Amino acid sequence: MTQLATRLREGTGKSHTIAENTAYMKCFLKGIMAREPFRKLMANLYLVYGTLEDQIRQHLDCPAVKGLYFPEIERQANLAKDLEFYYGDQWQTEIEPTEAGQQYVARIQAAADIDPALLVAHAYVRYMGDLSGGQALKMITRKALNLPPDRGTGLHEFASLPTPEAQRDFKMSYRDALNALPVTEEQITAIVEEANLAFALNRDVMHSLEEDVKAAVGWPVFEAIVHGKDRQGSTEVVAHH
Ligand code: HEM
Repeated sequence: MTQLATRLREGTGKSHTIAENTAYMKCFLKGIMAREPFRKLMANLYLVYGTLEDQIRQHLDCPAVKGLYFPEIERQANLAKDLEFYYGDQWQTEIEPTEAGQQYVARIQAAADIDPALLVAHAYVRYMGDLSGGQALKMITRKALNLPPDRGTGLHEFASLPTPEAQRDFKMSYRDALNALPVTEEQITAIVEEANLAFALNRDVMHSLEEDVKAAVGWPVFEAIVHGKDRQGSTEVVAHH
């Protein structure tokens, strides 16, 4: 057993705080979300998850990848349904990643070439995120975009984990699985570093959609929210003196 789960949580706490305080997320948390920036984020994530899930399936001969393989939480099919809803039948030709989205995809491929065990970092950042803060974001999205029932928030729907309790239990098993991965100390360090990079890539994708957020909410509201107080991070350990 290793302490990989704790090392990841503690080692990415600052990155998580930064991701929570991007303009995109700050507006989102205030309930201000518009269709255009939201569907563009889903389009980028469709390509990111497609790459991640393909790479994971291609590297199941790597014990670390195999040990964290949970096909029941794969996101690509749910995102495809969302994109059909937001872009229509021709969604596959309509969606286009931003430059930052392309860099994220390229890094997942490069990481798999360097050491497939680095895919663990990319899986952790996305799946644990979607199962954590993502659940609150789902409710905000449904309200802000006034969505019809069961459409448009597939990213945060887990058919195999329908209740908050099921999701909490799953996250515990996921952390146990992380701790049971056969990885060396050197690999642990590299995985934590890669997870911080994955957070940075997520942040860059959100930055790449800021103009769309601004266009939707108007710059005075945007400026007021972005320059408003930062959130204390949800996962960062804050030292009290
Ligand atoms: C405003 C946006 C966000 C909020 C409010 C939020 C909130 C949270 C909360 C409350 C937790 C703790 C859950 C728990 O311990 O059970 C958590 C965990 C996590 N979040 Fe976020 N989050 C946000 C954005 C993000 C983003 C953008 C990412 C990355 C793409 C992310 C990735 C993660 C990860 C990987 C964890 C698991 C930490 C661990 O326990 O190891 N979050 N988030």
